[in-house]
Amino acid sequence: LKVAVLISGRGSNLQALIDHFGPVITSSPVRIVKVISNRPDVGGIERAKKAGIPTAVIDHKTFPDRVAFDATLDRAIRESGAELVVLAGFMRLLTEGFVAAWRDRMVNIHPALLPSFRGVDTHRRALKRGVKLHGATVHFVRHETDTGPIIAQAAVPVLASDTPDTLGARVLAAEHKLFPLALRLIAEGRVTIEDDRAIVDGRTE
Ligand code: GRF
Repeated sequence: LKVAVLISGRGSNLQALIDHFGPVITSSPVRIVKVISNRPDVGGIERAKKAGIPTAVIDHKTFPDRVAFDATLDRAIRESGAELVVLAGFMRLLTEGFVAAWRDRMVNIHPALLPSFRGVDTHRRALKRGVKLHGATVHFVRHETDTGPIIAQAAVPVLASDTPDTLGARVLAAEHKLFPLALRLIAEGRVTIEDDRAIVDGRTE
């Protein structure tokens, strides 16, 4: 499965995917064919370059509006031959048209156990709410932010001594295992969507 990874920052999840699948190993079920950032000079672009993966910076600040930005993004992804779009810390809202064009072919990783704690600042909010389990979710993308069929989740305990930073570090470590696993499931054809829910290893007949 050829995937394009979209990032906005340090790219530690991208690194986990590179480490898991390897940049050039053709026998791998997942091949990262392009890494695209909407911000210049981010760590994730350096990581991709080091791994020999083609990169592009599409700076949203240079576009008049979201539609124009998304059109350029769409073209770059299509040119790369990617079959799946992977949002790995991509911090831009996508237009309804873009999301529709990649429906069931775009996934996101979110640092919370959805449907709890959509949006930003999830670790601080989880601590404030007093939940005892927190975690990460990989899901297909729908237009409403952080919604869509859930493919896989990883839970971590919340400790009494936690700060947003210590909890966030625990979740991030879980993300780095979860994301490769979820992409592998998709690449192996083991994920189907029924009634807008993702089913793993469902019956195929
Ligand atoms: C991760 O916590 C991810 O879940 C969220 O943004 C963060 C990106 O981190 N969507 P990184 O750039 O992969 O290190």
